Amino acid sequence: MHIYIDPPYNTGNEKWVYNDKVNSPKIKKWIGKVVGSESEDLSRHDKWLCMMYPRLKLLKDLLRDDGAIFVSIDDNEYCHLKQIMDEIFGDINFIESFIWKSRLGKGATSQTTAKLHEYIITYAKDVNLLKFKTDKRISSKDSKERLRQWGQGDSREDRPTMYYPIYSKDFGKVFPKKPDGTDGRWRISKVKMDQLIESGLVLFEMQKDGRVEAYRVIPAGNETNTAYSSILDSEVVKTTAHGSIELKGIFGESKFAYPKPSSLIKEVVSLCTKEDDIILDSFAGSGTTGHAVLDLNKKDDGNRKFILIEMEDKIAKDITAERIERAIKKYGYKDGFEYCELDKPLFDEDGQIEKTCEFDQFATYIYFTETQTNIDKKKIKGNFIGELGDVEYHLIYKEKYQNVLNESFLKKIKKGGNKKVVYADKCLLDDAMLAKYNIQFKQIPYEVKVY
Ligand SMILES: C[S@@+](CC[C@H](N)C(=O)[O-])C[C@H]1O[C@@H](n2cnc3c(N)ncnc32)[C@H](O)[C@@H]1O
Repeated sequence: MHIYIDPPYNTGNEKWVYNDKVNSPKIKKWIGKVVGSESEDLSRHDKWLCMMYPRLKLLKDLLRDDGAIFVSIDDNEYCHLKQIMDEIFGDINFIESFIWKSRLGKGATSQTTAKLHEYIITYAKDVNLLKFKTDKRISSKDSKERLRQWGQGDSREDRPTMYYPIYSKDFGKVFPKKPDGTDGRWRISKVKMDQLIESGLVLFEMQKDGRVEAYRVIPAGNETNTAYSSILDSEVVKTTAHGSIELKGIFGESKFAYPKPSSLIKEVVSLCTKEDDIILDSFAGSGTTGHAVLDLNKKDDGNRKFILIEMEDKIAKDITAERIERAIKKYGYKDGFEYCELDKPLFDEDGQIEKTCEFDQFATYIYFTETQTNIDKKKIKGNFIGELGDVEYHLIYKEKYQNVLNESFLKKIKKGGNKKVVYADKCLLDDAMLAKYNIQFKQIPYEVKVY
């Protein structure tokens, strides 16, 4: 899973809501309060960070190991966000603060300047695993590319097999030496290097410090990969005004302030995703991320999926979901989506199951965790809570920690038959009995990790 989010920028005009369930008395005082501008609310930046911190921690857990997170922001919170992201994701995993031109430049935004740009702060979960897009360039004349690795992982010990001598007619044996005199490493394997040398595409040059560097020659007209620019191409990503026009084209009226243009999210999403990845946006707003994913899939026949989460009930139903539905019809997208609403919370702020949690709520939670599909409550009968494929799910629950899987349960089911996953607190049946009835015992989960 990769992540794009566009949280409130904390401009002082949004009146965003600090609404976390947290225990600290100081933070509790803020709960449910509308957060105002700097002059009327001196702790505005603290509150914003308190809102973002646990969300980013959780999002990091959800990222896959080779995934990336992209966060839209402007100068109001840029430096604070960068710092907590350094802390949460590790500064080594920082990829870039991409800049995009969000306004066309009509009119000043402060006393002195017209601010035309915003940022997209990007981190990898693990920079060594992330595969990032490169720009393609066609050279009009011969160019060269150094064959010795530079930057991260440039030492001999990083890739011992990439340290080997190559032979130059003029200079004899050449090893990858770093300017500080230590051993470096080549960027390609010996086999590839031999092929290049054989094709006459390796050039040697003596450096001022006496070292010999080797370069790969790229003949004119050949395509080369160059690192992706930190400034997004404004012809490609367009501006916020385009986002508004796009949304108006779908609803016939302005329904949401400052939506991102889907072209921006398409560019961002295609920086590191493959055609079957999942993209999560937990500040969904008008649903631009969903729209962008649908459009990318249409263009490259991909099978990416999106998960959109929106806090405001009305926005979620009337704008986020409605926009996606309308976009599917308007542009003939092949994909669909499922709309879900959050039920009563199951866990309290310490991550413990709510005391008021009832059998049906538990059943819904367990069934979903097991099958990733919604329960059909009409099918609940006694301990049986549903089935999927050839697996049945059962729950033994009356009172916390008092639920036992014992012989009395066996009276209600048949021997053998379908596999039965049975949730309880304790199991008093031995392995032979469990096997005879094809039962797998699982402990009822009473807590989740909280940040
Ligand atoms: C800036 S908008 C996102 C716009 C979106 N990228 C688009 O293109 O339409 C932020 C969204 O996050 C939601 N949100 C989630 N948690 C929030 C919070 N704690 N305070 C304010 N808004 C929150 C808001 O309801 C709003 O729809």
